Amino acid sequence: MLQVDLIARHISIVEYGKIRTVLGQGSGMESPGFNRLLEMAPRLGEAFTNLLQRQNITIREIYVDYEKNIELHTLAECLVDYDDLFHKWRAHHMALVARTIGTEANSLKGLSTQVLQKGIKTRFFPELLELRSTLTNESSVAYGGQPLS
Ligand code: HEM
Repeated sequence: MLQVDLIARHISIVEYGKIRTVLGQGSGMESPGFNRLLEMAPRLGEAFTNLLQRQNITIREIYVDYEKNIELHTLAECLVDYDDLFHKWRAHHMALVARTIGTEANSLKGLSTQVLQKGIKTRFFPELLELRSTLTNESSVAYGGQPLS
């Protein structure tokens, strides 16, 4: 995130405009490292789902009784870390784009910067995030809920 902040905070729009003229038509979307991380996510998700099926346990059971399922709970939270860090980097990068070339500009590849919005809306493991809302609402005494355990 540091690279993104450095550019956003220390290069003026005019200076960046000059830099851009020599950047050719490259695109961050072609970054091998970035695409490797993108490819990993569904494979991690599938491996996790297969593991839960083999252990005959649900995500909900892991979280409700997390002390008994501490290893699986830790693994699930590592997946959430992966999703979170990726999401935060994309949001940071989007803020950089908004501050440098603007959100209505086109990229060096002629793509609208709006393509980045789709990425920001993407979560790798939505079921692990949705469960938080479900358990919170179920256990929220404020809504007549009962403590989980
Ligand atoms: C002022 C600096 C920057 C601007 C204006 C900018 C702009 C953009 C734009 C418009 C896109 C989407 C369309 C396309 O790829 O052609 C994009 C994608 C991307 N850029 Fe940048 N970028 C900047 C700096 C960086 C830096 C410093 C990095 C890496 C450290 C980076 C990595 C990426 C990646 C990985 C993508 C694909 C993102 C995704 O698919 O969600 N960019 N960038």
